Amino acid sequence: MRRGIGILVAAMVAIPVAVGIAVIAIKLTSERKADRVVAVDVTPVAYASGEAAMARGGYLFRSRGCSQCHGADGGGKVVIDDPNGLYVESPNITIGPGSSVNGYTEADWVRAIRHGVDRAGHPLLIMPSEDYNRLTDGDLAALVAHVRALPPIADKPAVVRFPLLVQALYAFGVVRDAAEKIDHALPPAQPVPAGVTPEHGAYVANMCIGCHRRDLAGGPIAGAPPSWPPAADLTPSASGVMARYDTGEKFVAMMRTGKRPDGSAVSGVMPFPSLSAMDETDLLALHSYLRALPAPKTNP
Ligand code: HEC
Ligand code: HEC
Repeated sequence: MRRGIGILVAAMVAIPVAVGIAVIAIKLTSERKADRVVAVDVTPVAYASGEAAMARGGYLFRSRGCSQCHGADGGGKVVIDDPNGLYVESPNITIGPGSSVNGYTEADWVRAIRHGVDRAGHPLLIMPSEDYNRLTDGDLAALVAHVRALPPIADKPAVVRFPLLVQALYAFGVVRDAAEKIDHALPPAQPVPAGVTPEHGAYVANMCIGCHRRDLAGGPIAGAPPSWPPAADLTPSASGVMARYDTGEKFVAMMRTGKRPDGSAVSGVMPFPSLSAMDETDLLALHSYLRALPAPKTNP
């Protein structure tokens, strides 16, 4: 009996101590990973100017997710405030006094947008730079021209808080930051002519891989709040959704309204404020590319 109580008391002390040590280890490991320095060999892209570049840059800013996360004025905003503890406020990316991009060089813009690494060499945690790594030099320069021309706003830094579970997943490599997913050695993508072609659609579809994965087969989004549905399978497999978009018109209508052909709503995790800003050429090209995807290889 005495011995039983002894074991119980020892367990009552040991278990919380073990849990405490595990929690500290998780926090330290994930903080160390977020603080690591990622060395990337950056080739600067020269600043662009002129009406065509500004118009293209504004279009990319609105349609590729930037304005949805950073605000149309680039001033930063609350992006995710989930009851489970994931909290994300995007930073101000105007060149206002004290902003993190104030003093950015041509190389710094490339490092952040294409490689997911900030000026000090630390990985960006939320920004889906894997979606932007394949931007051509022309598109990247246009985007930067638009951002640099935004009326300056004073400092508003990013705030990123992960719940403990996401810290653990990040520490153990299940949740990976963009810098981990990107092949930093790839040369910049070469431009393809814009048009309703699968080639141009493949270029536009680069901004879908952060959620739908590189093979576009979808699945759960790592580290996302539990309320988020898995990203849809865009391949022609049995679970693929593209069969219901047999015409370009149906696909364009869904991307613009967030409604499927049967009228039901697609989850707002799909970034419709950005996607609905895409022009008809980009949307129809996406459709032609997705409909032409090869069937996924089945594991024998
Ligand atoms: C899903 C939301 C999201 C999208 C989409 C997004 N960003 Fe970000 N961005 C962030 C967050 C959050 C940060 C702060 C760093 C991080 O990710 O932890 C950031 C950081 C940055 C930085 C680096 C600032 C610094 O600290 O040095 C730049 C530059 C930037 N974003 C530009 C862009 C541009 C341009 C686009 C569109 C091509 C874009 N972002 C799209 C959320 C986003
Ligand atoms: C921020 C994450 C995110 C991004 C970026 C994103 N999607 Fe999605 N998408 C989702 C999620 C999550 C679903 C599942 C929605 C549901 O089940 O209601 C989805 C569903 C879909 C569907 C299925 C619609 C239906 O009929 O149910 C299509 C098609 C689609 N996405 C295409 C795209 C394309 C093309 C892009 C890039 C241009 C893109 N998505 C970018 C998260 C994303």
